[in-house]
Amino acid sequence: MTYRVAVLAGDGVGPEVVAEARRAVDVLGLAFEWVELPWGSAWYHEHGRMMPEDWEDQLAGFQAVLLGAMGDPSVPDHVSLWGSILELRQRLDLWANVRPCRLLEGIPTPLADYGPAEIDILFVRENTEGEYAGVGGRSHRGLPGEVGIEVSVFTRAGVERVVRYAFELASTRRGLLTSATKSNASRFGYVLWDEVVEEVAAEFPGVRVERVLVDALAARMVRSPDSLDVVVASNLFADILTDLGAALQGGMGMSASANLAPDRPGTIGVFEPVHGSAPDIAGQGIANPAGAIWSASLMLDHLGEPEAAQRLLKALDDVCRDGPRTRDVGGAATTREVGAAVAAALSAG
Ligand code: IPM
Ligand code: MN
Repeated sequence: MTYRVAVLAGDGVGPEVVAEARRAVDVLGLAFEWVELPWGSAWYHEHGRMMPEDWEDQLAGFQAVLLGAMGDPSVPDHVSLWGSILELRQRLDLWANVRPCRLLEGIPTPLADYGPAEIDILFVRENTEGEYAGVGGRSHRGLPGEVGIEVSVFTRAGVERVVRYAFELASTRRGLLTSATKSNASRFGYVLWDEVVEEVAAEFPGVRVERVLVDALAARMVRSPDSLDVVVASNLFADILTDLGAALQGGMGMSASANLAPDRPGTIGVFEPVHGSAPDIAGQGIANPAGAIWSASLMLDHLGEPEAAQRLLKALDDVCRDGPRTRDVGGAATTREVGAAVAAALSAG
């Protein structure tokens, strides 16, 4: 079986980190067909869009997208992202964004009292609605009474599927699910969210569930990250919490994500490091490829290659522990040197 992967390396450091993720996967000896799609900000300047109009047709037949990063200072962020990542997530109905927040050995964390044994959280982010529904508008433009409205949309079906998936994941881990909410200030969306969590909980007697206000949860991630196992959160809450989580695991360069439709196994998933295009360091060859390599491991899981996924993750683990490391995580190595070390660890193992 040949896996067909669309490579959307994208902007900034995207191509640099994706190259290392590909190199590592290629060492595994599985059959991959990588198809590079030149979409992103450069494409935008040529065609007036981040992706071609028929992007959905062009992605048909791929099992996965490996995405680097999207966004460049020359295109307004809301244009570049609604024309790429956010469009992919919503239109492909990739409703779960899974983000492991695990501190690897050898990687410095800003938390003084904690190490790899205590920082292992799995975030499950609702990925198509909530604060990212894309509902709203502007009026009275330029007038003193100008209005900007951004509506959060929570549907029972949308909340239920992501919450159920988070329960399933929690039942395979330490059996604790923490639901991030804000139902003290919100009277509608998060109250619905809480009710759905409570209902779905009845299906999982083996999982302990707790409801935590998102502000308190942010503090708890810093004070006692070891008290958390799986966290399920809305689109915006998980966006914010996973940047905090990335900081706990050593920085944005370490963090990986999988955009999935778990109810449609065998269909396309999008795998991307959590960091952005980082234009400030693009082209210097110093970006950390760990998040991209880790995302490729999540992709292998999605493709039904759990052993290869584990091998890749272990190689990354080994390289983080023994070096080389990029400078954001305390080393002095280049992107390529880290990628080469991961590939070498795979060849040796
Ligand atoms: C992320 C990113 C995106 C998000 C941006 C780039 C739109 O921050 O994947 O976390 O907000 O989801
Ligand atoms: Mn984010």
